Amino acid sequence: MTYTSHYSVLKKECLDSLLEKHDKNGKWVFADLTFGGGGHTIALAQAFPNSIIYSTDQDPEALENGHNILKENGLEKRVTLIDTNFVFFPNWLEENAPHVKLDGVIADLGVSSHHFDKHERGFSFLGDAVLDMRMNTADSTIKTAREIVNLYSEKDLVDIFKNYGEEKLAKKIASRIVDYRKKAEIDTTKELENIIFHSYPPKQRHGRIHPATRVFQALRIEVNQELKVLEELIPRLLPVLSIGGRLNFISFHSLEDRIIKHSFKSLLKSDLPCQIITKKPILPTEKEISENSRSRSAKMRVLERVKDWPSKNKYKKDFI
Ligand SMILES: C[S@@+](CC[C@H](N)C(=O)[O-])C[C@H]1O[C@@H](n2cnc3c(N)ncnc32)[C@H](O)[C@@H]1O
Repeated sequence: MTYTSHYSVLKKECLDSLLEKHDKNGKWVFADLTFGGGGHTIALAQAFPNSIIYSTDQDPEALENGHNILKENGLEKRVTLIDTNFVFFPNWLEENAPHVKLDGVIADLGVSSHHFDKHERGFSFLGDAVLDMRMNTADSTIKTAREIVNLYSEKDLVDIFKNYGEEKLAKKIASRIVDYRKKAEIDTTKELENIIFHSYPPKQRHGRIHPATRVFQALRIEVNQELKVLEELIPRLLPVLSIGGRLNFISFHSLEDRIIKHSFKSLLKSDLPCQIITKKPILPTEKEISENSRSRSAKMRVLERVKDWPSKNKYKKDFI
């Protein structure tokens, strides 16, 4: 099996956030919730040579490749690779390592280069493949993009394209999809790309962003319930952080970033003291963007669990 290597976004900034808090020789426990190509996990293991790391991924190909790269890097003993959706990781920890507290968590959200580059996975309109888009291809209960475009009502399609893709032509595209499927099923990425492309007025078809970009993003988010799991995950992580432990969340679009920002703010009202480290998100440097254009929309936000509420915490008054 070939696995497309992944450029790890904001890797230095992520490590710096943890090195700022933790001595590099300490026996820290970290979690990388989005193992992917393993870039962040390996960098973390190298920066903290006495640490142990729990890494999760829900993609069977990422996991299979992951076991190989951990072996190649001699990290099988220090890194535990867990086959799970990250939303269940706090339960996994409770069942398998109930006394463990995490000194740092990294989540580099969304899909990896591998998902786009391996056209058979059905994420990319650049290839021609069955519309699948599941990260977890081992779970046949997850609705694929093909099922969604063929079975969802026109209204539901409009909502998904608007809410998850911020697509201005959501209504027109959904209506064309429904017309098309009266005659034939929409099976492939190219068929869908073609319907979307022709929903756009000719003058708007050749802009900087391909007309199908937003709808493909929306479908991917719906298939993998990306926003729902993110929203559920964040509050469940605070109790498993150590004092001084940090959450480092990297997002790639405004919908994710909004959830992270609001979830972090809500944690300031929980009963466990914490503080937001990044008043404004950390962005990639010009150099990183020039090396990897996919990093251009990345934003990282950091939250730290602390011993006592900082006196300046503007939410403190709400609950004392
Ligand atoms: C952007 S890539 C991570 C790349 C990685 N940080 C690196 O440096 O190679 C995201 C990875 O997280 C996985 N993923 C996304 N959402 C997930 C979830 N809810 N649970 C588990 N894994 C998830 C994807 O399958 C993908 O492999």
